[in-house]
Amino acid sequence: MSYVARSDRPADKVARYAEVEDEILAVLDGEPNRTARMATVASMLADAFPQFFWTGFYVVDPERPQELVVGPYQGTLGCLRIPFGRGVCGAAAASRTTQIVEDVEAFPGHIGCDSRSRSEVVVPVSDASGALIAVFDVDATEIAAFDTVDAEALERLMTRVFAG
Ligand code: SME
Repeated sequence: MSYVARSDRPADKVARYAEVEDEILAVLDGEPNRTARMATVASMLADAFPQFFWTGFYVVDPERPQELVVGPYQGTLGCLRIPFGRGVCGAAAASRTTQIVEDVEAFPGHIGCDSRSRSEVVVPVSDASGALIAVFDVDATEIAAFDTVDAEALERLMTRVFAG
């Protein structure tokens, strides 16, 4: 049975996130490498939610701390670098707050890596010390594919995987 996250039954989406979160944490048990953890999160979430068209990380570049550089992802070619403050990912990094964008064309400065992306959610990712290490970006080809259920589930997952 295929699962459609944009459901009339938000409880289904909550349950699916809880299930995939448990699966991700089980796979990552004992694995400290951050790239391996990011790659696993991107792969397993993309597989869990078919409407996730682009799923992945933009990491804070240690050499240029006000810039994001693409990290592990699933999907079509992503832009390589995004300055803090630019586009949806840059807004999430600069403000350290989750961004839910129902229509990317209405978002000032949106960076269109693939014109099929129509809505997105971007969650800041911090380490155990509270330092921002990345943002996690999910794009969909549908308008308004994401809501606060997605935002809260993804925030919780990022905390458990990267700040635990
Ligand atoms: N849409 C993003 C850029 C990254 S991609 O969509 C993969 C943004 O405006 O931040």
